Amino acid sequence: MIPETRLSNEQHQKLAGIVYKETGIVLNEKKYSLLVARLSKRMRIKAISSVSDYMNLMANDPEEFNEFIDATTTNHTFFFRENKHCEYIIATLEKTKPLKIWSAASSSGEEAYSIAVQLLANAFSFSIFASDVSDSMLNLGRRAIYPGDRVREVPPSLLRAYFQKGEDRWKDHVKVKPAVQKLVTFSKFNLLSDKPSDTFDIIFCRNVMIYFDTPTRQRVVSSLCRALKPGGYFFVGLAESLNGLDHSLTTVLPSGYQKN
Ligand SMILES: C[S@@+](CC[C@H](N)C(=O)[O-])C[C@H]1O[C@@H](n2cnc3c(N)ncnc32)[C@H](O)[C@@H]1O
Repeated sequence: MIPETRLSNEQHQKLAGIVYKETGIVLNEKKYSLLVARLSKRMRIKAISSVSDYMNLMANDPEEFNEFIDATTTNHTFFFRENKHCEYIIATLEKTKPLKIWSAASSSGEEAYSIAVQLLANAFSFSIFASDVSDSMLNLGRRAIYPGDRVREVPPSLLRAYFQKGEDRWKDHVKVKPAVQKLVTFSKFNLLSDKPSDTFDIIFCRNVMIYFDTPTRQRVVSSLCRALKPGGYFFVGLAESLNGLDHSLTTVLPSGYQKN
């Protein structure tokens, strides 16, 4: 039996401090079990049973450091999640003007592809930049193959038009069609430390700021607002809001904002 991983207070502080500094994700005492679970997974993969040995490895191996950070991210997502925001865009925006859209914590790409299929079906002209801090999630987005349960909320007509059904060992999977894939570009971007080098008509930054504390949220929102064109739209997750943060956006719908 594999012994349960336990962290000393000092080890917890050190590891949580590394994650906070790298990503802004808060792994405080309440998140102890989550941190242990993610750490244990890496230790199993590297066949290391001592936490201090693993921490030494991390300190000397940038690749493993990156794998550890990647493992501490929470990537849950699915197609058509919180779709009211996309419906609002379709109902409100002009189809004649090409849109530059950013899915700023895209995880494995479901958010970006959900927006893409709906805008395509409604004859918009657009491009989507999808970014995340997790390399493994970005690779899944580029691969564009998803288990069937992720597309449960996609209307059947859109599923038929924009997804290919898998066969044989992929029979419970779907693949996003190339015509949709080519409208979405995946790239690594750390919301905490990278500076946007472009401006956008619409930015989605949903279900990531719940993992941040208020100073980090403020930093991320200020940075993303600078990357938003005047009149542009900014969406956060429905369980999130910009309450208590300093910004000059106007609320247009729940968790949806516009730059003046
Ligand atoms: C729960 S997923 C949200 C996915 C999608 N936006 C949605 O609403 O379904 C949160 C994502 O935020 C990413 N993330 C966490 N910290 C980040 C950071 N500092 N910079 C960029 N992405 C980050 C995680 O890797 C994860 O994939």
